[in-house]
Amino acid sequence: MKKLKNRIFDHISEVADNMNLETYVIGGYVRDLFLKRPSKDIDIVTIGSGIELAKAVAASLKPSPKVNVFKNFGTAMLKYKDLEIEFVGARKESYQRNSRKPIVEDGTLSDDQNRRDFTINALALGLNTANFGKLLDPFGGIHDLENKIIRTPLDPDITFSDDPLRMMRAIRFATQLNFEIESFTLQSIAKNRDRIRIVSEERVIDELNKIILASKPSVGFKLLEETGLLAIIFPELQAMKGIDRVNGIAHKDNFYHTLEVLDRIVPNTDNLWLRWSAILHDIAKPATKKFVEGQGWTFYAHNFIGVKMIPKIFRRMKLPLNEKMKFVQKMVQLHMRPIVLSEEVVTDSAVRRLLFEAGDDIDDLMTLCEADITSKNPEKVKRYMKNFKVVREKLKEIEEKDAVRNFQPPVDGELIMKIFDLAPCREVGLIKDAIKDAILDGEIHNDYEEAFQFMMKKAEELGLKPRN
Ligand code: CTP
Repeated sequence: MKKLKNRIFDHISEVADNMNLETYVIGGYVRDLFLKRPSKDIDIVTIGSGIELAKAVAASLKPSPKVNVFKNFGTAMLKYKDLEIEFVGARKESYQRNSRKPIVEDGTLSDDQNRRDFTINALALGLNTANFGKLLDPFGGIHDLENKIIRTPLDPDITFSDDPLRMMRAIRFATQLNFEIESFTLQSIAKNRDRIRIVSEERVIDELNKIILASKPSVGFKLLEETGLLAIIFPELQAMKGIDRVNGIAHKDNFYHTLEVLDRIVPNTDNLWLRWSAILHDIAKPATKKFVEGQGWTFYAHNFIGVKMIPKIFRRMKLPLNEKMKFVQKMVQLHMRPIVLSEEVVTDSAVRRLLFEAGDDIDDLMTLCEADITSKNPEKVKRYMKNFKVVREKLKEIEEKDAVRNFQPPVDGELIMKIFDLAPCREVGLIKDAIKDAILDGEIHNDYEEAFQFMMKKAEELGLKPRN
């Protein structure tokens, strides 16, 4: 008997008894109860009408919550306190090939458990007074929970062909829970991988994002790669796997390097888009890879080419094309800057320029760059980390002194046009850029008077005269 402490279960129990409906709590909530993971989504299954039960439960609560009915699916949902409770009638489901639309038929509890994705998600607890809290575990789900195993209740080929998204879910649960996928289940994913193509991009990427937000995303990406799913859903990342060798000189495997950077960034950010930046920072390395005699492997301009590849990837994956994508592009574009900077003498002007370009995203950029240092040479890592500390200190110092983080020119184009009686033209741009450069190079301060004087000097050089 499992303890169901939340009072809502007593309510449902009483209503179900009165209606003479055999009723259970099932799926993720039960799994998480055994795993001691807090869960706010409750799935209730009843042998009969889930919609009628939901309405009666809502009516018995004070205040009575609204019931959202999804007639096509035969489900109803209500919100109670911080819980979302979904009611459904037990069903036998079969699926048509190449479509996710189920043909639904009424069924028994055991039919309903049979059609679920994994043994650990098929656990049910009785809710009627006669069996309140009694566990129904027909497939050894508890055994699999204890042994940390993801396994389908039926032949995996059937379970996955019923809903191919479950292949992604298996990998997502393995990553989130640190479980292993049982070998027949894993083999079946590899075998059925092509079926993922019938699933909508949104649902696939939703699972991918959950993998990315886990505490060790590399686990999921390695499984995606091993099963062949990665080549289908993310060919650009797949292309990073492998090593080329010329004259005995090899480059590093950029797929595993990327996964290492991703894992390394996890403790420092829960921002999904910064994690995406880690995934994409070297995405153009395969496209730019070249062996140059005397120099070795080069990946010239891979950051800029990477920036150009991102919109196509985001569009295909139905990821947002707004400022979130722009943020990722900015991270990818600038990802080598702090490290290049730290390899040389760290000058004020180089730091000022970096701060100018990164703006408010400077801290995220530094986080990405630190994660990018995956060298196995401890001396090298120590040197980089020391230089990074210098960069960070300089950043702080310059920030306090010069305020160039979100740079606004103290003298703008309007003023230049007014003083010299100009229409918009090349000279206005030249003067504006010269002022900006002078500030970033530390020739003048970020200050109106100094910028004004500088403008006058620059204009004279260009042969411009102020109007009287
Ligand atoms: N389920 C399934 N096949 C799917 C999706 C869901 O069999 N493709 C079943 C599982 O029994 C699952 C339940 O429906 O436990 C609820 O699904 P969902 O809310 O998506 O997942 P949870 O298991 O609750 O896990 P999470 O909240 O982490 O997504």
